[in-house]
Amino acid sequence: MSCCHYYEFTETGDDIFSVDAAAIKYGPGSLREVGDDAGMLGITRAAVFTDPVVGALEPVRSVLESLRAAGIDFEVYNQVRVEPTDESFKQAIQFAREGRFDGYISVGGGSVMDTCKAANLYATWPADFMAYVNAPIGEALPIPGPIKPHIACPTTSGTGSECTGIAVFDFLEIRAKTGIAARELRPSRAVIDPTCTYSLPANVVAASGFDVLSHALESYTALPYTQRVRPERAHLRPMSQGANPYSDMGSREALRLAGRYLERAVADAGDHEARDGMMFAATLAGIAFGNAGVHLPHGMSYSVAGMVRNFRPAGYPDDAPICPHGMSVIVNAPAAFRFTASACPERHLEGARLLGANIHNATEDDAGEVLVQKLLALMKATGMPNGVSGVGYEETDIPDLAAGAYLQQRLLKNSPRPVNEQSLANIYHGALTYW
Ligand SMILES: [Fe+2]
Repeated sequence: MSCCHYYEFTETGDDIFSVDAAAIKYGPGSLREVGDDAGMLGITRAAVFTDPVVGALEPVRSVLESLRAAGIDFEVYNQVRVEPTDESFKQAIQFAREGRFDGYISVGGGSVMDTCKAANLYATWPADFMAYVNAPIGEALPIPGPIKPHIACPTTSGTGSECTGIAVFDFLEIRAKTGIAARELRPSRAVIDPTCTYSLPANVVAASGFDVLSHALESYTALPYTQRVRPERAHLRPMSQGANPYSDMGSREALRLAGRYLERAVADAGDHEARDGMMFAATLAGIAFGNAGVHLPHGMSYSVAGMVRNFRPAGYPDDAPICPHGMSVIVNAPAAFRFTASACPERHLEGARLLGANIHNATEDDAGEVLVQKLLALMKATGMPNGVSGVGYEETDIPDLAAGAYLQQRLLKNSPRPVNEQSLANIYHGALTYW
């Protein structure tokens, strides 16, 4: 791979990349096979995780019927919080500990799948809650061994959590998002039924679609794995390895699909071709970022979501202010890519092209602006907020936003261009208002 310009070997950099991916099943009606899948994984008593809304809908009914048909005992936990917190994780862990389950099934969005991963982890390997949480907030201790089988069934086309070893939550004490990241958390199998997305509100499809798009763009423009310091032992190689030739395949196809289908999927719930396409894009981008890792737009999203005051977008539960994950990412993304473009302009330009931009006559100096204009056109066309001011922040919030983002070292290290707290503040400044 040293022949590829972006992956030129360096003296101290890594020269190996590894690929971890969940086994994947994709197609309409695939949830009806979950019972058989669980049986093949040796599950006899399953914990089924969902949230109060999805719990009453067809996808959960399908999964429970298939478990009954396969003769698998189960209990349902339908109290997952959308945008989970350390408190809601702990309640789910308590349920998992008491239930003596030998397998886990999650049916819902990223919040449900992430909560299920954490419940499985702490029920299998009990520890103080901060033990496995990412440093520097937690101790980031290694997980002692495999956790129980987990079948992840996404019902939104966004997080790609079904393919990753990452579980994200709001840490209430410091009002910031953090998470647990370890290969052991990756679900054993992902069952992806695109019909789950046909009834989603437009705003949910838009926010989760931009999460997909940004997973792909961030993975594609991440620091190359050959520029990350070579680990002393194989097990020390991080899960987020940096961009690599394998993650590039998923990123590129996810970008092409998002360019083709995102606007259509938002505009028309009846456009099943578009909604199916975004569901597949979410999975491909999940495989990509699960191995490459994301960088600035996600690193900056955590304080945007964690410090939200009054924002209540359409299509989401309105019991509390919320900035949905995909929105908290995309409001930073144009300013972040404007900053990173000089580090790998050819990749920013190619990303814009895959999304459908006309790059005829564009030079590498134009790369950041061409990509930014394409992102802004897509954001406007799908009703996204106009930058971080669109979700309720002002100039005076920037120091706190930057301080929160600076804690996300795991993600910031993956940026193709180094950042410090001041450059994060400058990027937030550029992200306040776009149009
Ligand atoms: Fe994301």
